[in-house]
Amino acid sequence: MSIRNLDDLLAEGVSGRRVLVRADLNVPLDKQTGDITDDGRIRAVLPTLSALVQAGAKVVVCSHLGRPKGTPDPKFSLRPVAGRLGELLDAPVHFAEDTVGESAQSTVAGLADGQVALLENLRFNAGETSKDDAERGAFADQLAALGDAYVDDAFGAVHRKHASVHDVPARLPHVAGRLVLREVEVLSKLTGAPERPYVVVLGGSKVSDKLAVIEALLPTVDRLLIGGGMCFTFLKAQGHEVGSSLLEEEMVETCRNLLDRAPGKILLPVDVVAADAFAPDAAHDTVPADGIPSHRLGLDIGPETVAGFAAVLSQAKTIFWNGPMGVFEMAAFANGTRGVAEAITKADAFSVVGGGDSAAAVRALGLDESSFGHISTGGGASLEYLEGKALPGIAALEN
Ligand code: 3PG
Ligand code: MG
Repeated sequence: MSIRNLDDLLAEGVSGRRVLVRADLNVPLDKQTGDITDDGRIRAVLPTLSALVQAGAKVVVCSHLGRPKGTPDPKFSLRPVAGRLGELLDAPVHFAEDTVGESAQSTVAGLADGQVALLENLRFNAGETSKDDAERGAFADQLAALGDAYVDDAFGAVHRKHASVHDVPARLPHVAGRLVLREVEVLSKLTGAPERPYVVVLGGSKVSDKLAVIEALLPTVDRLLIGGGMCFTFLKAQGHEVGSSLLEEEMVETCRNLLDRAPGKILLPVDVVAADAFAPDAAHDTVPADGIPSHRLGLDIGPETVAGFAAVLSQAKTIFWNGPMGVFEMAAFANGTRGVAEAITKADAFSVVGGGDSAAAVRALGLDESSFGHISTGGGASLEYLEGKALPGIAALEN
């Protein structure tokens, strides 16, 4: 990668300089309490932040959280993240009440060498995500004014053409942070010459989100295992009725074409856990994938499917997994995700878990993170990387 990285910046010396770090601190929050339910993304950026702190930089961290609509919304405040970041860094994190306004300016001006500030949610500003270059540029000007150098460590957001990702690096000396560097190094092994068999496991709810990556991966992979909510559109394409399961009717034809294009390469569930309702205590049974009762909806892959997927995974030398196999947040529908995750850890393979949700599932199910080769912090970003798309955040660092 012809990109300057954090070591290059540190070698120049950052003591007393304001270093603006774009992080992806978009962590899941408990809907009721607002508590952070998984702090993996905060931990992932610590190596970069600690290195800057130790080198005496004035560290100005910015991030998005959720998808507020360009205006402040307390539900999406980064304040709780500032608290958690402070605990993990074992140092106070000065929180700015806005992103580029008076609070941000005075907070940054008040930083001593080696201190850290976190700005309020970037997406409280319409300019951050605007499709209009001038509007994005104007916001990027304000943001860039808060730093003397820029570090992109927000791997989860590099696929977004947003001001903080794409436009700020054009305005400041810029480098890739440790996390971005490591993610790109690892994912490039998958797009290079992966050791075979190369098996990809895809889950999650929407086929339409995964279509581009399926198209791109189909010629490359040896086997593609499909579970999660998206499997029902494929099952329908095979001619099965799927009851009231999640279905993207307009994608059925596309799924049929994909199945025809690579006969035998795509593996679908042979059994599913079908429930009366989308609820943790819903009545449920395991049924054959071609026999889902009309009033029931599939919420997980069944045990026979898990065994079949596990057998394929046990032979693999390279594995990429994105997307849960079922509604793992509900104990009754977590076995598919757990079974596949365990099979991945047991395989004698280089394994990459892609995505905020799959990574959170690994931790929520209490699996040993170190038994995976790499757990990516980027969901959409890792998929777009594997698709071979140019990523605006990476391209901006190359210039
Ligand atoms: C993610 O959660 O995938 C990243 O933080 C990007 O968030 P976004 O999909 O809202 O742009
Ligand atoms: Mg996401």
